[in-house]
Amino acid sequence: MIISPSVLSMDYSRMNEQIKELEASDAEWIHFDVMDGHFVPNLTFGPDILKGFRKATNLYLDVHVMIENPVFFADRFLAAGADNYTFHEEALIHKEDIKKLAAHIHEQGKSCGLSIKPGTPLEYLKPYLHDFDLFLIMSVEPGFGGQKFIPASAVRIHTLRTWLNEEGLKSHIEVDGGINAETAKICREAGADVLVAGSYVFKNDIREAVKSLE
Ligand code: DX5
Ligand code: ZN
Repeated sequence: MIISPSVLSMDYSRMNEQIKELEASDAEWIHFDVMDGHFVPNLTFGPDILKGFRKATNLYLDVHVMIENPVFFADRFLAAGADNYTFHEEALIHKEDIKKLAAHIHEQGKSCGLSIKPGTPLEYLKPYLHDFDLFLIMSVEPGFGGQKFIPASAVRIHTLRTWLNEEGLKSHIEVDGGINAETAKICREAGADVLVAGSYVFKNDIREAVKSLE
């Protein structure tokens, strides 16, 4: 199981210290939640802050953009050091742009992910199973850390893993929102292989919390 702690819940008065603790833990990725205050009712950080993280750590930078214009910002985040760039299916009105953006990200040699909110039908991912390295199943309404895991997420994870298996695909299924030791087990059993955790990791002992999710 790949653990991707979300820096949305980091204590920014102790950023360097917590990055060192993450590096000493079993976490392999860092989840970077970008919010523009339009696609979701919250505002976080941009490419320049990601550059800081890129300088501060070698951990894999797993960028999750909850923004209205993921096409416009893609190159800025890739140039800032993103290893993976995950955007929302709901953000692109012209659906042909979804495959186009995935191809563009792959041309830069980077990983790309497609995410859907809890209320978006899982079927909306079906046309793209072969175009993405990763699918991000939101198990909370995007916008804030510290929310409760939506139980119906488990069947979505399992169904998606079944579709991917039927296509012979080993793509990542990442789950994001309300992950703790208990919900991590549910997600693992349903077929997830990457877990995002923000509040659970940063509000507890980082190493122990990460270990408890594996
Ligand atoms: C929510 C973000 C999540 C969030 C997870 O919009 O995409 O990554 O930070 O936080 P927790 O783990 O506290 O639910
Ligand atoms: Zn996220």
